[in-house]
Formats: sequence, C-alpha cells, structure tokens
Amino acid sequence: MTTNHRPEPTVFVIFGGAGDLAWRKLIPALYNLYLDHWLPEQFLIIGTGHRHTSDEDFRRHLKEGVDTFSRRGKAGDDEWLGFAAHLSFMAADLEQPGVFNDLTKKLADQDKAWDARAQHIFYLSLPPRMIEPVVRELGKAKLNLDRKRARIVVEKPFGHDLESAQELNRTLGEIFHESQIFRIDHYLGKETVQNILALRFANTLFEPIWNRHYIDHVQITVAEADGVGSRAHYYDHAGALRDMIQNHLLTIMCLIAMEPPISFGDYEVRNKKVDVLRAVRPIPPEAVHLHAVRGQYGAGSIDGQMAPGYRAEPEVAPDSTTDTFAALRLYVDNWRWQGVPFYLRTGKRLRAKISEVSIQFQGVPHQSFPATSMMDWRPNRLIIAIQPEEGIFLRFEAKYPGPTMRLAPVIMQFFYREAFKIATPEAYETLLLDVMLGDATLFMRADQTEAAWSILTPILEVWDTIPPTDFPNYLAGTWGPEAAKALLAQEGRSWATPTFLQCREDQPVCRVTLVQP
Ligand code: BG6
Repeated sequence: MTTNHRPEPTVFVIFGGAGDLAWRKLIPALYNLYLDHWLPEQFLIIGTGHRHTSDEDFRRHLKEGVDTFSRRGKAGDDEWLGFAAHLSFMAADLEQPGVFNDLTKKLADQDKAWDARAQHIFYLSLPPRMIEPVVRELGKAKLNLDRKRARIVVEKPFGHDLESAQELNRTLGEIFHESQIFRIDHYLGKETVQNILALRFANTLFEPIWNRHYIDHVQITVAEADGVGSRAHYYDHAGALRDMIQNHLLTIMCLIAMEPPISFGDYEVRNKKVDVLRAVRPIPPEAVHLHAVRGQYGAGSIDGQMAPGYRAEPEVAPDSTTDTFAALRLYVDNWRWQGVPFYLRTGKRLRAKISEVSIQFQGVPHQSFPATSMMDWRPNRLIIAIQPEEGIFLRFEAKYPGPTMRLAPVIMQFFYREAFKIATPEAYETLLLDVMLGDATLFMRADQTEAAWSILTPILEVWDTIPPTDFPNYLAGTWGPEAAKALLAQEGRSWATPTFLQCREDQPVCRVTLVQP
C-alpha cells in the first residue's frame, strides 16, 4: 500500500533472473515503475542465471519480455536505454561455493560507487528445492544482517502442505526476521482486491449491513479460460486447491470477512486477516465430500476454439488425478459471520477468465407487493469485479415502467476505467514498490500461510487417499463439474453467472441496466 515517497538506493537481486517470472512480470513491472518515476536514482537490478550471458544479451532478452507483456506495450528506444543501464547479469550456479562471496563483493562495490548504503532485495524466483539452500547461503554470507535494508521476497508455493510450509517458515525465520520476509500473493496487488478495503472501510454505507443479519452468502469465483499451459511440471503436483485457493481465494475471503482494522499498518491488517482464517470452521475428514468438490477438465471448446483435455496437455500424466477445479463451502465461526456460507470456486479451462466476489443479501422480511408484481423478484447482490473488468455492481429491484406495479431487477454499475480514466498499475508494480518501501501490509505473514494450510489439510488428505474415479468430470468451456452446482443447489442457491461483465468500452460511468432473465 504505497505511500508517496521514492525508495532509498536499492539493489534488486533476482535469483532466477533469466526465468519466466522475471521475463513476464518482474522486469515489465520494474520498467513501468521506472517510467512512472517511482524508482530511486540509484538502483541496480542484478539477475542471476545458470548460463553465461552477456549484459547485452540479458537486456535484449528482457526487452522482448517488456515489449510483449508491459501494460504500455512496446518499450520506446530512449526509455528502454535509460532503464537498461540499470540491468546487469550475474552468471551463477547457486549450488556452487563462492557465488555468494562474489555477490557480497558486488554489492559492496556498488555501495562504494554510490557512496551510499543501499537496500538489498533478494527476490527468490526459484524452484522450491532451491529456496532453503539459497536462504542459508545468504545467511552465511551475512547478507541477512541489516534488518532495515535487507529483504527477501518469496514466491508461492509456500510449501506443499502444512508441514512443509512450517518447515519453510522455520528456515526463513532462522535467517531473516519476519519483518524482512515478503511472501507475495499477487492478487493482493490487484487494484480491485485492495479496493475491497476502501469499499468497506472508507464508506459508512456497507459496514452496518456487512454481517449475518443481512448477508445470505458470499461467492468468490476466480475462473480461468486458459489451461495449464507450459507449467504442468509444477501444476500436476499442485492442483487448483493448492495453486489458487490456498493463497488467492482465501486472501480475498479474508478481506471480505475481516473486522475493521484500527489502522492500515501491516501488523494490524495482517492480524485481522489471520483472525478470519483462524475462525474458519474445520472440515472433518468424513465431511469433506459434503463441503469440497474437485474436478478436472476434459476436451471441449471455448469461444469456438477446441481445447484439449487436461490429461492430453504437454507433460501431464495420462492418468493424472490432479484437480484443475476446486470448489468449497466454508463457514467463519464468529459473531459477524455465524451461519453465512462462503462459497469459493476456481478452475482452469472454464467458460471465461473472470474473477469476482458476489455478496448476496437476504430477502426482504415482508413482501408488501402483490404476488403478480413479484414474478421477477431477486435479492440484492453486490458484485466486486476483479478482472477482466474492474468495478462494483449493485443489483436491486426497481419498478418496471407501466401503469401496473411490477418489479424488475436492475444493476447499478461503477467501472474503474471510466471513473478514474487512468491506467491501473499491474499487481507486481504495486507489490515491488511496497517491497522497496518496506511496507509489508499486502504480503502474507508466516501465520497466515500456515492458517490457510490448516484449513485445507483435511481436504488434501482425503483427496490424496481417495483418488477420484470420475475424472475428467467437466468439459473445457463450461463452469465446472455438476457437483459444484449441487454444492449450492442442495441449499437452494446457485452460482452467480457473470454475464453482465461482458460490457462495452463506451458505456457511461454509472448507470442502471435491466438484468436479463
Ligand atoms: C497464479 C497461479 O498464482 O495465478 C496460476 O499459479 C494462475 O495457475 C494465476 O493462472 C492466475 O493469475 P491471474 O492474475 O492471471 O488471475
């Protein structure tokens, strides 16, 4: 949650700097921060990689990434030259001794050249097996000692289960102080996810009704149309529950369910989030089938394009039992949320890429209108649209025009792009700047990751013990398996269909549209 000053002199060391994440996300984000004058005058990005590459080749490779993935499109020649002067490559086999001494020397030389004590940010964009050795080597090289200026950034997966997460946190905690550790969940960098806090705590309107007395249930959907792509080597051992629910969906749920923080300091906000996870009702093994649904996609078509089934994707085992879809019903056992179900669903190769939160309110306590006027009556619903459209939508009942009293649901809509007319930063831009400013509010603390794993552990254990017999159980291009519908249908509810998000660019800022039946 960025303040408005620029960071101190900084050296950003990306371990795995020649890899995919740096190419697609980290360097384009740093480049945009540079263009927007957020980076300090004195900054250096060192990317490490196995193969010997010249600085020139490294820069050329990164420029391709920026041209392809930056929200601003192709980089201008002059701008790129200015930025590229801050990029340097270090060939380093991280398993060989001596590498960290070289790094220490490089960092000391840089301090001398700048006549400053720079911040050192160590970004671990590495396979999980490399995390612990690199953290220990950083410790041996004493690069962890300056609590104020040395920080470490860790990407998910934060372990594979509760035990491995605890182990990882222990190792990190032996070498770095918790205030130096930044565990990234990129969903927290998304504007609309942060806007949940603004919506709830900067307005008086919603908070009085944000509880079990008015809210019937909450749905959180993070749907993807893409398949597993080239990441099967990781994903086939993870699955949707670990890959998405453990972090992104539970994080969103925390923001929806948390109590108002006293301030926006990192300690306070993170405490409130952890409180939510600690209040989630444990699912006993014998009830997992009642609360959790898993799925895997078979071949189907999305927007007229044929998509292969998961088991036919490159590097996926032909008999893989990995979940590419997961849906859960959770309860938060506290005064505010007692009895209110939170339904979470995520999956690959679904109908469309859409992330949204849908908060459904209860019906009115008494229907004064004649039954004939109520034929199209629907409860109020507040939708927080996270992507691809960013905005907030409120469904309410209005009188249908005409001489008789008839009600119809309509939607009042707020779109970010229209209200503010400025490009929103990519999630990684916000988060990398926060790391440089030392603000950990939007990052996961050790206890949060462990609390999230505790919720999922019984489900993972049951799923591991009892392999699915019905996979693939949904077609690419649908909204997931039938069992996910049943999860809500058995309680007389249904998943919200996000059809009205397919809006046109030229729509005005705030308007009311009729809900299609
Ligand atoms: C990542 C997951 O954390 O989030 C991916 O590992 C997923 O599997 C991605 O595709 C989705 O992120 P976004 O920002 O595209 O919704």
